[in-house]
Amino acid sequence: MCGIIGYAGSIRAAPILTQGLTNMEYRGYDSAGVGIHDGRQISIKKDTGKIDEIKERLGIDSLNGNIGIAHTRWATHGKVSQVNAHPHTSCESKVTVVHNGIIDNYQKLRINLETAGHLFISDTDSEVIAHLIEDNFKSSGDYRSSIIAACEVLEGSFAFVVIFKDNADTIFGVRKDAPLILGIGKNENFIASDILAFIKKTDEVIFLENFELVEVSKDSYQIMSLSGEQKIRESVKVAWEASDISRKDFSHFTLKEIHEQQNTIRQSLNQNTNILNDFCDILGNSNKIYIVASGTSLHAGFIAKQLLARVVKIPSEVVIASEFISYADLIDSDSVILAISQSGETADVLDAIRTAKGRRGKIISIVNTPGSSLTRESDQVLFLNCGPEIGVAATKSFTSQLAIIYQLVLILSGRTQDIAELTNISNLVPELLSKEEEVSKICDTFASNTDFYFVGRGLNFTIALEGALKLKELAYVHAEGLAAGELKHGTLALIEEGTPVIVLNPDDETYYETLNNASEMKARGAKIIGISNKPNPIYDYHLQIPTVDRIFYPILEVIILQFLAYYGAISRHHNPDYPRNLAKSVTVK
Ligand code: F6R
Repeated sequence: MCGIIGYAGSIRAAPILTQGLTNMEYRGYDSAGVGIHDGRQISIKKDTGKIDEIKERLGIDSLNGNIGIAHTRWATHGKVSQVNAHPHTSCESKVTVVHNGIIDNYQKLRINLETAGHLFISDTDSEVIAHLIEDNFKSSGDYRSSIIAACEVLEGSFAFVVIFKDNADTIFGVRKDAPLILGIGKNENFIASDILAFIKKTDEVIFLENFELVEVSKDSYQIMSLSGEQKIRESVKVAWEASDISRKDFSHFTLKEIHEQQNTIRQSLNQNTNILNDFCDILGNSNKIYIVASGTSLHAGFIAKQLLARVVKIPSEVVIASEFISYADLIDSDSVILAISQSGETADVLDAIRTAKGRRGKIISIVNTPGSSLTRESDQVLFLNCGPEIGVAATKSFTSQLAIIYQLVLILSGRTQDIAELTNISNLVPELLSKEEEVSKICDTFASNTDFYFVGRGLNFTIALEGALKLKELAYVHAEGLAAGELKHGTLALIEEGTPVIVLNPDDETYYETLNNASEMKARGAKIIGISNKPNPIYDYHLQIPTVDRIFYPILEVIILQFLAYYGAISRHHNPDYPRNLAKSVTVK
């Protein structure tokens, strides 16, 4: 979703800002722009399309000026157009703003401002911020207080960075419920929504808190609350492989990240024992566990619920983060909320945990991104340690989530002797990666099919959901994940000659029942793609996976399904790294 960056330094801002935008491309966007202060005025260049093309077309990198702001937009209010791209400026071009989030009351504010004579040129909610600040600045003549006064009337979520025509040295940033990070360099400072925007320049950061305003020049910064009180905050070093954001020799980040899983699974298992034990104590002593997540992380949550029930014998509920409010009344001080999120910035998840916190629930999280809002708002955190995930589709983060969930479940159930087998799972990844070409050929065979079904039972059912989500997301085809036993209750009616069905069928207690379901579909013309450690003539295509303890199959199966989605996209000529309409970090509700 929208990415923002501001720069105040001693060299030209434009190339630094466009590089920052490129580093945030993975978040998903449809337009981009910059505002550069050249000492006299602010030049705004913006358009729809890809950053590289916009940069070339508008000659952005040759703009002069050592301070500036920039933005990638993922449209929410107002169509994708040049005029709706950020930065936005006020009537007299005195205030220029880039914004991430949604201003809920923008319609009312806009009417008030228009009545007061302001002229709006875009359809965005964000433009009100520039006009509001300009209005306040006219009466106060003070930069900070004009921003603070604007924040007092804004409702919704926001992180924005502002520059003023009359101030060629300073950028200002402020946040409420959307991330904003100060990057502290030598003779240069940054404000951005994402560490990756400036990680090549500095790894010294301060994660701004809600309702904090930061005033930044090239050699200083000041943080204050919205009541004007100065805040002293320690900076931290981001000790993350954060600078590893190159594709290496892979054609796409998604492919690189699928291939990284041997290492990333191992890294995820390398956890601080005290924190692991603390997690286990919290989970083991609660009988009100709510697992909260969205999308792929939600699927990890389903696996956690099943394993807690079957292996540890404790109950838990999985709640879709965006639906959490329906369960809010059940939360009290005995409740534990296990939030799972790659980004740690998913608005639905943050909203859910804030609701739970308000009811005195304990928040524990499994997160990838250090310093993200979820990590800072949780009572305890386990990190995935899988490095930045740039491909919009979650791949390595999912297997890392599973690895941590397995580790917790094995400790909680006293099956610590099985941790060695879990650790060995990462050594099986190359065997799965060796299926790449086979999967790509299968994808070519089904390149013109538009409906796919994924089925499995038990834990494999959840992986069927994940496989279908991934294929929809990357190949833009209809795909459905189903509990194999549910087919005969309706969906079997859709199976016809040539329908591809992916059957997740490891040799566990569900093997024969799932095989029967595969036969039922084959009898109706389906083409069966079996993913199993045990071959069977029912499969038209068989993708062999290694034999492991039955609880570990999901982590192996899903790697094959990631390839299936990736090559599903390639065979349809789509770019798997940037699926249409989707954003990596979903910071709006
Ligand atoms: C699917 C995908 C999304 C995310 C979801 C939650 O491949 O990436 O469904 O899983 O948006 O994101 P996080 O895990 O960052 O909370």
